[in-house]
Amino acid sequence: MRRNLLAAALALAVSTTAAAQAVPQPVEQAAREIAAELAKQCPLAPANDTAAYDACRRGLFASQALRARLPAILLWGRESKAPGATLRTTHLTQFAPDVWTNMYVPLFMFNGRYTLEWVAEERLYRMRLEAAFRNRLAPGQFPYPFWHEEAKWATYENANAVTLWIAPDTQLLRAAQFTDIAPTPRLQAVTPVKHAKHDGQWVWTDAQGRTQPAVTLFDGVLRPDNPYIHAMDRQYRDLALQMRESQCSQCHVPNNPEKMSRLVLLSTPAHAAGEIDRLIKSVRDDRMPVDEFRNTVPLSPDQKRWLLESAEAFRASWRQAQAWERERTKEAP
Ligand code: HEC
Repeated sequence: MRRNLLAAALALAVSTTAAAQAVPQPVEQAAREIAAELAKQCPLAPANDTAAYDACRRGLFASQALRARLPAILLWGRESKAPGATLRTTHLTQFAPDVWTNMYVPLFMFNGRYTLEWVAEERLYRMRLEAAFRNRLAPGQFPYPFWHEEAKWATYENANAVTLWIAPDTQLLRAAQFTDIAPTPRLQAVTPVKHAKHDGQWVWTDAQGRTQPAVTLFDGVLRPDNPYIHAMDRQYRDLALQMRESQCSQCHVPNNPEKMSRLVLLSTPAHAAGEIDRLIKSVRDDRMPVDEFRNTVPLSPDQKRWLLESAEAFRASWRQAQAWERERTKEAP
């Protein structure tokens, strides 16, 4: 009996080792290419180096290896520190590829080193990249003030790894996370930054009259002479007003008042641009807004029309802005 148990245990140990070693070639290759691209576009730099950050943002926004492996919706957030936590039990935010590559993953710097392993509970490969966070950028360089919550800012500041969850069949990323408790050492010393208490605004106007956070208008990613940026700015403000009137801003904001397990952010131009098709569809089909019990709340015909009109105007400018960029890239790559 004991011998059988021992044999079974040995067989199990051997089979898990074998499984761990046998990462299929396509997954192996995806990981290698992603790591190389991240290290090339976003190498280690001082944590306040805005030029390095912008180069990384432009590089990843237009990237090959990474973008080819992003799904329509990527889940993003802190790794949970609760024992036994899984992706399903962790609060995550959903992002379109444009949003994540413009404003989230470029906040990290990479040295190209990673581990890759099969995680049976998730049925996904876990690629864990050594990373450091750009904590000393100006407030308008973050998609929103992460310091609205002290623990969140501390985890970002001290992050030492970014985890990418890769699907075995498609090699697409399903989720991405960051943590400050990976077993690998910090890549550089962190000088903490203490920000003024967050005043509850997710978008504001600075002393020069510019909309902030600037990154949420794709500043540094779209060309500065893109003629549609101003229209997007103005139309987002109209849309934001309509979303306030229609209760959307009670739920779809970073502090997640309704504790959605999959947060959808609409609180800046870039976040709204990433969700704009889904936004229009959910309002048109009367699926949004909902109340605290998730029952749909009908909008008045006027409210619905104004909300849809402002969303469609914003979407049209965002599409024109992108088309203009594509034309310019063709003319002068
Ligand atoms: C009481 C909170 C609440 C309010 C108010 C609310 N939503 Fe939502 N919204 C949710 C929740 C929860 C989900 C995700 C769960 C789901 O799919 O039902 C969601 C999902 C969404 C999605 C994603 C749908 C998808 O297909 O992925 C969009 C877009 C959205 N809401 C837009 C809006 C808009 C626009 C308004 C205002 C007209 C609004 N919401 C008002 C709670 C809210």
